[in-house]
Amino acid sequence: MAKLTKWVKEDTDNKFVFWPTEEMKKRAWISEESIYKEAAKDPVAFWAVRAKEGLEWFSPWTETYQWNPPYYKWFVNGKINASYNALDRHMKTGRRNKPAIIWEPEPVNEPKRVLTFNDLYCEVNKFANVLKSLGVKKGDRVGIYLPMIPEVQIAMLACSRIGAVHSVVFSAFSGESLKSRMQDAQAKVLVTADGYYRRGKIINLKANADIGANDTSIEKIIVVKRAGNEVKLMEGRDLWWHKLMSKAPLDCKPEPMDSEDMLFTLYTSGTTGKPKGIVHHTGGYLTVALWTSKWDFDLHDEDVFWCTADIGWITGHTYACYGPLLNGATILIYEGSLDYPQRDRLWEIVEKHGVTIFYTAPTAIRMILGWGEEWLEKHDLTSLRLLGTVGEPINQDAWLWYFRHVGGERCPVIDTWWQTETGATLINSLPGIGPFIPTVAGRSFPGTTHDILDEVGSPVKIGEGGYLVQKSPFAPGMIRDVYKDPERYKSQYWSIYGDKTYYTSDGAIKWDEMGNIRLTGRVDDVMKVAGHRLSTAEVENALTQHDSVAECAVVAAPHDIKGEVPIAFVVLKQGTTSSADLVSKLVKQVVKVIGPTAKPEEIVITDSLPKTRSGKIMRRILKALVKGETVGDTTTLMNPETVEDLKEKVGYTR
Ligand code: WTA
Repeated sequence: MAKLTKWVKEDTDNKFVFWPTEEMKKRAWISEESIYKEAAKDPVAFWAVRAKEGLEWFSPWTETYQWNPPYYKWFVNGKINASYNALDRHMKTGRRNKPAIIWEPEPVNEPKRVLTFNDLYCEVNKFANVLKSLGVKKGDRVGIYLPMIPEVQIAMLACSRIGAVHSVVFSAFSGESLKSRMQDAQAKVLVTADGYYRRGKIINLKANADIGANDTSIEKIIVVKRAGNEVKLMEGRDLWWHKLMSKAPLDCKPEPMDSEDMLFTLYTSGTTGKPKGIVHHTGGYLTVALWTSKWDFDLHDEDVFWCTADIGWITGHTYACYGPLLNGATILIYEGSLDYPQRDRLWEIVEKHGVTIFYTAPTAIRMILGWGEEWLEKHDLTSLRLLGTVGEPINQDAWLWYFRHVGGERCPVIDTWWQTETGATLINSLPGIGPFIPTVAGRSFPGTTHDILDEVGSPVKIGEGGYLVQKSPFAPGMIRDVYKDPERYKSQYWSIYGDKTYYTSDGAIKWDEMGNIRLTGRVDDVMKVAGHRLSTAEVENALTQHDSVAECAVVAAPHDIKGEVPIAFVVLKQGTTSSADLVSKLVKQVVKVIGPTAKPEEIVITDSLPKTRSGKIMRRILKALVKGETVGDTTTLMNPETVEDLKEKVGYTR
């Protein structure tokens, strides 16, 4: 296969710009530059065409876009069903017996499972009937706390079939995290599993689910038998998935949903300690999930799409469930760890299943890169034709390594910028158009408009940095609200530059005249730890729940593989003495309250935190300390001596 055309800008240091090959241009759904201009002429009309062409509506909309700042609606009064579009439509075509989901379990000796669209359709119908039989109705919330097994897609699509709102919680989040989300969502039913495999061990998920269901409105817990570990079932509350499914009728009519009915809520971290339920509605989300999957990843019928993101994150929702299935594409999902039992497990999976599209996070690429090329060389990776990244800025070395060693210089690397709030990718290069520039995500997806503003709201010049915003018409799959908290919706996204400009909380640089954008990371207290979104305040809350903690502050420090890691500064209560044992207990406390992803890299015990005279913690100083930067002026502090003390104590170097 041909290699991508390479053009090295001679005049700048080490800048690479790649363009698609003729072969890629010919094959790609979109290869004409004109798409951007055409869409920009009338974005509302552009999206209307997409929604009509890509989806089957039970009844048409009467108004395409309605904007009452800071709220907007798409395809107003249109009636549609997500599961019908992801499944029933394909029943009438040759895709009926095509694999929809290929599932690879972690244990190497266990057989894979393949579900055709027909199989998935039948399972979803049955599970939809199970939910109904338990009293779940349109608009009710259903919690899903499952590992990466096909039951996760079955449960999500079954909810959408009957109009129930799913709220998936990452299976590596703790029982406590699950509980706070379920309380906020007021879920009626929770779907979970007995356990799952992680690095050869069985994790008892049901035990966490039990903690999560305490003090919530959950009436029933449906338990998938996955790992066969012993679990306690509570009489009258807990039910086995397989038992319910064996009696469930096969047909369940899809509920006609309003385009602006809620499809799901997904909790994500913001700047406070309380995660917020991001609300996504139906018609708009489906439209962008479908078209971004198709155009960004150049999805064709013969493709096998492996998005490594867990379903508990938005990337899993859109690219390991809705997006590819709406396109009738085959998805691969994997239960376990990418390096189990060996560091070539992921390449073995690519080879075994002929994966053509591979989508992962920069953190995974940096980790794999560190293992060396020998693990890749054992496998034939020529089935791959497109690579993607998501979740955090990618550094040039990781980008080039991915491009050269994984993609063999054939595969474009599509660096997609987006957020839980945006529902689908919004800034990236299109594979048939390019350019593919390491560290530069690309342009706004056709039909969407972004800008980069300075502090006072003026657009920055090319080459300059500022804050990334989105302008109306907002992408159809954008956040509609924060669940039960419209005030937070308004203040978080629509207060910095007013209610007509969506504020992303990301820093960005206007790269060139073409409209390419480089993302530079969050500008708030949200961390991306190994691609996982966490807030420093959540980690602080977890720590202060411990008896010995009087006060603490958590900041993100740069990390070569994980991107960022939390570092905690802790002041102990009077009478408590610091010890290695206590530090390890504090780390455990965070894992217990949030989950292993939030584990602090270092805990610095200190007598006091740097504060202003009004008593505010100066995070700027703590951030500088963990980055090894100069601290700057400390004269305005109430306790400047603390800074000197902390300088000696911070051991963290990346
Ligand atoms: C960051 C993940 C740079 C960004 C889909 C955003 C990125 C946050 C990229 C959202 C990228 C995502 N380049 N940064 N390609 N993609 N981000 O909600 O800071 O888990 O605001 O959604 O990830 O994280 P979330």
